[in-house]
Amino acid sequence: MSNFLNLLGERHSEYVIGTNVSQTPEEIRELVQNVLQSVPSAMNSQTSRAVVFTGDSHARLWEILEATQKEVLGDMFANYQGIFDGAKAGFGTVVFFEDHDAIKAGIPANEERQTLYKEQHAAIAEYATWLALREVDLGASLQHFNIGYAQGFDKSIREEFNLPDSWEMNAQMPFGSIEHPADKKEKMDPSEQVISRD
Ligand SMILES: Cc1cc2nc3c(=O)[nH]c(=O)nc-3n(C[C@H](O)[C@H](O)[C@H](O)COP(=O)(O)O)c2cc1C
Repeated sequence: MSNFLNLLGERHSEYVIGTNVSQTPEEIRELVQNVLQSVPSAMNSQTSRAVVFTGDSHARLWEILEATQKEVLGDMFANYQGIFDGAKAGFGTVVFFEDHDAIKAGIPANEERQTLYKEQHAAIAEYATWLALREVDLGASLQHFNIGYAQGFDKSIREEFNLPDSWEMNAQMPFGSIEHPADKKEKMDPSEQVISRD
């Protein structure tokens, strides 16, 4: 199998992560910059943004998300405690945003397309980053806490970290050293998943 396909197969949702990493925060920021420079976007609109949180800002990020989710979920929060503890134990978090100003400028006059493409841009940026982290032996997972731009659910994150009002939070990707590798998940039959017509 090619190195690329091996890399795809080695990426899993890693929830048991730690701080035993060889990269500096600057190196990780550069890695994510390289990824976002390379991803495709509709009409080259380049609507995706990312912030790499490490150190105190990583801790503060998860403090805010946890406080909100405790309030929102009440007793149900217990089901997510493991995810939060796991994320906090990591080295950092890449938080992905879609810039509404760039969406309006780059995908003009079609609200349906704007909505469709911004989600696709975010997904492409997130998956490519997930793979790039895995390639340098960092494990990550994908989380969606405090999502909801129209409702203002992500406003506290923008305010706390002085981010532009036009940035809609799309997902959080906590990452770090892989301390206990995830089990491989069961996959459906590939012959039902991908078919061909000659
Ligand atoms: C669009 C999308 C949303 C996801 N949301 C979450 C999430 O909120 N929390 C989480 O722990 N995992 C989330 N995941 C991860 C999936 O649960 C995971 O990728 C899937 O079960 C396959 O496992 P693997 O990542 O180990 O291959 C999400 C994945 C995708 C693609």
